[in-house]
Amino acid sequence: MSESLNILMVSPELSPFAKVGGLGDCVASLSKFIAQLGHKVKVILPKYVSIKLPHNAIEHLQPIIVNMGYGTEYGKLWEIKEDYLSIYFIEFDRYYNRNGIYYDPFGDFHDNHERFAFLSRAAIDLCYYLNWIPDIIHGHDWTTGLIPVMLNTIEQHKPMGQCGSIFTIHNLQHHGYAPKSILDFLGIPYHVFHSDAVEAFGQVNMMKAGLYFASKLTTVSETYSREIQTPEFGFGLDPVLKFRAGDLIGICNGIDKQLWSPETDPFLPTKFSHTNMKGKMLCKKKLQAYCNFKIDAMTPIFGVTSRLYEQKGLDILANILPELFQNLRIQVVLLGNGDHYLESRFIEIAKKYYERCFVYIGFQEALSHLIEAGADFFVMPSRFEPCGLNQMYSMRYGTLPIARATGGLKDTIQNFSKDSSGTGFLFSELTDSALHNTILWAYETYNKQPKVIMEMRQRAMQQDFSWNTSAKKYIDVYHWAKKINYD
Ligand code: ADP
Ligand code: GLC
Repeated sequence: MSESLNILMVSPELSPFAKVGGLGDCVASLSKFIAQLGHKVKVILPKYVSIKLPHNAIEHLQPIIVNMGYGTEYGKLWEIKEDYLSIYFIEFDRYYNRNGIYYDPFGDFHDNHERFAFLSRAAIDLCYYLNWIPDIIHGHDWTTGLIPVMLNTIEQHKPMGQCGSIFTIHNLQHHGYAPKSILDFLGIPYHVFHSDAVEAFGQVNMMKAGLYFASKLTTVSETYSREIQTPEFGFGLDPVLKFRAGDLIGICNGIDKQLWSPETDPFLPTKFSHTNMKGKMLCKKKLQAYCNFKIDAMTPIFGVTSRLYEQKGLDILANILPELFQNLRIQVVLLGNGDHYLESRFIEIAKKYYERCFVYIGFQEALSHLIEAGADFFVMPSRFEPCGLNQMYSMRYGTLPIARATGGLKDTIQNFSKDSSGTGFLFSELTDSALHNTILWAYETYNKQPKVIMEMRQRAMQQDFSWNTSAKKYIDVYHWAKKINYD
């Protein structure tokens, strides 16, 4: 094994404590796997009020000093020691004592830039508090974009200035705009406030800051690493990404098989595997009963679990669902929340076709597992998808994805082909007719070629979506980033 590294992960989400989407799952499982490879990993996230810490959580009696640009703040630290890693939660009422991670029912919190700039500063000060200078600070998405800026400016000649920084793009759409005063908030000098650094449209763009200043950049699939260098997927940051292309690498996410496996999943009424698929039928029955559908093994269920935002392309599904219900014998179950307009469109459809369409607006971990297991197909018509975890979860459960060939969906799903190979159904254009035809293609195959579908399920279930390969790639990137700082 190569030299053991010290790594601090900084993230706004970490499953199971705080999860809005795949970021929480990704950081939790990546941290665990890197630690299992023999590296020392610590993770820091806010102690949102919704987090109920387990009994073995350690309360640090000495407060952590957070060195803000305007003076000193004091936070409270909690720690959980897991088998391989330590997780730190920073409690600070002004920013985290409210319901919601990024938003509440009234919308995004107006001070998110401050809340996460504070987390970023606290992450650096955690290292001083622990008297532990890591080799690498690994930040995730815009919320952590100011960490590399601090390491290269105010920390440059201090011990933490020696750290390499990795900045991972999980979703380039969210930039995190902040007024210029965020620099004063953290004590960062104004010379970084220009368009070849952190400035965009007269504000600080926290995503851009990370992209410019981190030692190395990663994103969560190879295809997405290329896509984001184009205007179509770059959200205006493609020139920066092109500029840094030599330091950018796409590494596909893995999944945590301890949490997402039909052989062991505690949320399922019966377990199953690719060699014994009987349990999947029972899960389907249970899902049909839960949705008040007719119990019928022959009717295919199309499942969706998703944040309901433009990214996910589910408006296209809403456009075609009425026609699908009129022409095909299908059942549809959708679990999700987000955009209120989209939520209400799906609620309307479910009211009209209530015998065959079930919509649950909200976040429900247990139902998300039952959908993966009980559905026949899983629909992901994403406009863009940096990686996507759901298609990998669904394949693990023998539920075939119907997905747009973009980003990580393209990298992880093999399209069904004439020689009957493949692990899902892909389409390219995001149009009503393309999605409609692909669903029809899956439906016809299901009805006319059940053996082919069964073989596809078994093939999908045996794909290797573990972190084994990807975690090692991160280690290589850590060494790469570390060298840059020390050589
Ligand atoms: P993204 O991170 O863009 O939302 P991913 O496919 O990477 O997409 O990950 C989404 C994760 O969030 C999956 O674990 C999915 O099951 C979960 N998820 C999304 N919405 C819900 C919901 N309403 N209830 C339960 N889990 C959800
Ligand atoms: C983001 C992306 C998703 C990815 C997840 C974890 O939320 O939208 O595609 O799987 O991060 O990396």
